[in-house]
Amino acid sequence: MTAPARTRTSAELIKAEKPVLAHNYHPLPVVVARAEGTWVEDVEGRRYLDMLAGYSALNFGHRHPALIEAAHRQLDRLTLTSRAFHNDRLAEFAERLASLTGQDMVLPMNTGAEAVESGIKVARKWAYEVKGVPADRATIVVAADNFHGRTTTIVGFSTDETARSGFGPFTPGFRIVPYNDLKALEAAIDETTAAVLIEPIQGEAGVIVPDDGYLAGVRELTRRAGCLFVADEIQSGLGRTGRTLAVEHEGVVPDLVLLGKALGGGIVPVSAVVGRREVLGVLRPGEHGSTFGGNPLSAAVGTAVIDLLETGEFQRRAARLGTVLREELTGLVGRGVVGFRSRGLWAGVDVDPAIGTGREISERLMREGVLVKDTHGSTIRLAPPLTITEDELRSALASLEKVLAA
Ligand SMILES: Cc1ncc(COP(=O)(O)O)c(C=O)c1O
Repeated sequence: MTAPARTRTSAELIKAEKPVLAHNYHPLPVVVARAEGTWVEDVEGRRYLDMLAGYSALNFGHRHPALIEAAHRQLDRLTLTSRAFHNDRLAEFAERLASLTGQDMVLPMNTGAEAVESGIKVARKWAYEVKGVPADRATIVVAADNFHGRTTTIVGFSTDETARSGFGPFTPGFRIVPYNDLKALEAAIDETTAAVLIEPIQGEAGVIVPDDGYLAGVRELTRRAGCLFVADEIQSGLGRTGRTLAVEHEGVVPDLVLLGKALGGGIVPVSAVVGRREVLGVLRPGEHGSTFGGNPLSAAVGTAVIDLLETGEFQRRAARLGTVLREELTGLVGRGVVGFRSRGLWAGVDVDPAIGTGREISERLMREGVLVKDTHGSTIRLAPPLTITEDELRSALASLEKVLAA
């Protein structure tokens, strides 16, 4: 007989998952049962500092009181209508999100991958209807080492064999160029190009920050070529880098911005495509949608997220604590760290492979009470909630120093 979940230990729960859960993840061996702010607690009551924040879905920490209150209030009133009817929360969410991002219109969806798929559909439709690309000939230029999600179309233009292999045949119409290379980008754009789709900072690839001028260069190239600049800010956006959007560091306004993760406050999946009216306006009834996209619970939580971002407090914290993160990591270079890249409260740290793989370092940090996630090889990612205190941040980095020195 299977024991009820509450009486099972972490080890028992991990074992119980194996036969019944698809093995599409390889989580660290920690079973989280409760969380508040920057801290999570496992089944046995051990506490850990969360230095991953749900890949930036928890930018405001776990269970931020204002977000929880907004969710509770909405749960007591109305949760879902579908877009067959209007709901009384959606207009304000769209108005405020458009205003926060300096755009005109919003297409609400749920997950990040859906926002990317939606951006691709909109860009293609725009290419046929506005730019005049012949039917079914539109191309989209993307960057090598991209990560935009896991649907079949999206993995089709991934350069990561683990993500792609075994999932073909893939959707045609994508051209892949090296990231951070304006010449290669320029050469790939032609009269069939609907859009250039890139991450302003490549998260999954190891927090790859492009050279200064790259994003402004992409904007200039796309403007000259008459194609769209679509910025995937699903991980980089909403405060993480010290600005509301990472493209703001170069004063760039893309034609479409893809948002997700933190937009749902770590409570519900909320994503969106935001953009100019000439572009998002190409969609007409019946051409795109989602049963849950724009539901009143998501709109209420998303609006409460916008309330937080409008204060500017989280962007300022990310910028200020980002300098602490950078200083501390600089001090570790040559002492177990071979290099790092960071912007705001977000860093990719390359650990000396002789010390361990990213996975091994993550497991050692877990035993020190700090949760991080590895990415390719010996790189670990740091992306704590933007609510982290300076002391907490320094203590997490002290744990990293200890693990590297051991
Ligand atoms: C830049 C970027 N785009 C898209 C996605 C996909 O988001 P989701 O996992 O919500 O589908 C991610 C997820 O990590 C991401 O980092």
